[in-house]
Amino acid sequence: MNLRETLRQAEGQIASKDIPDARIEAELLLMHSLGIGKVELYASPEREVSPSELEHFYQLLWRRLQHEPAAYILGESQFYGVDLHVNPHVLIPRPESELLVELTLEYANEHPSKAPISVADVGTGSGAIAMAIALHIPQAEIYATDVSQAALQIARSNCQRYGLQSRVHLLRGDLLQPLQWRMNVIVANLPYVESRNLPNLPPEIRHFEPLAALAGGSDGLHHIGRLLAQAGQKLLPEGMLLVEIGQGQAAAATALARSHFPTGQIDLVPDLAGIDRVLRVRT
Ligand SMILES: C[S@@+](CC[C@H](N)C(=O)[O-])C[C@H]1O[C@@H](n2cnc3c(N)ncnc32)[C@H](O)[C@@H]1O
Repeated sequence: MNLRETLRQAEGQIASKDIPDARIEAELLLMHSLGIGKVELYASPEREVSPSELEHFYQLLWRRLQHEPAAYILGESQFYGVDLHVNPHVLIPRPESELLVELTLEYANEHPSKAPISVADVGTGSGAIAMAIALHIPQAEIYATDVSQAALQIARSNCQRYGLQSRVHLLRGDLLQPLQWRMNVIVANLPYVESRNLPNLPPEIRHFEPLAALAGGSDGLHHIGRLLAQAGQKLLPEGMLLVEIGQGQAAAATALARSHFPTGQIDLVPDLAGIDRVLRVRT
């Protein structure tokens, strides 16, 4: 079989499982399996794929046909231009979470200072948000927390890859509890899927991503509510708290924020799809 035939066959098999973007998925797996780029893939479509190459490719394809996300098969993902190692101990970073980074950059621009800005990234997972902030705000010191030791190991290897170990401090513990002092900014993408919605998630998420990164209790706001209760004690004056929320959670999350920050400035920032995605509190 040549490259063109291998690709076409794989695309058909992936599409037959109702997996969207079957062509792109097939390309990704084939390029990764053969260690080639897109130019090479399309420059010589008649190139024969050897039996051993095919065997390796079929192993990866089989995993994708079981609905394992391509990011876990490849061990790689991207977030805000940052290349990240990922494995099933960490959530695959989502594009909508990039809004947390953008709003933090906005804050840094509005508060120009030679002094370092301290930022906490609560529930850091792969370290995606912490690293994107560290790379774009050179004066930022980041304190990234997670309860999962396995997630922090991935975050550590990602930080090492970019030489960020001295500015991204990885701390194990519950929410803000590992922080010894107050922060300028707290950002958090904590689990917020409501219990009743967990069984309806696509198999890619339900069977492969860590439950501890998804489950937000009966109303989805279990962790977020606890964070809002703690955050007042861990924010500096003129500080900002950014919390990612799920679709339909805006009113309840705002009410919680109002109860903990009665004099704070509270608003909601929509994502590119127009969904209220980030709850913002300014003290
Ligand atoms: C939705 S994932 C987000 C990961 C990463 N921030 C991202 O955006 O890709 C939530 C993360 O919060 C962590 N987590 C869950 N409960 C936590 C808690 N009580 N304290 C700290 N981290 C927690 C999970 O282990 C998981 O890594």
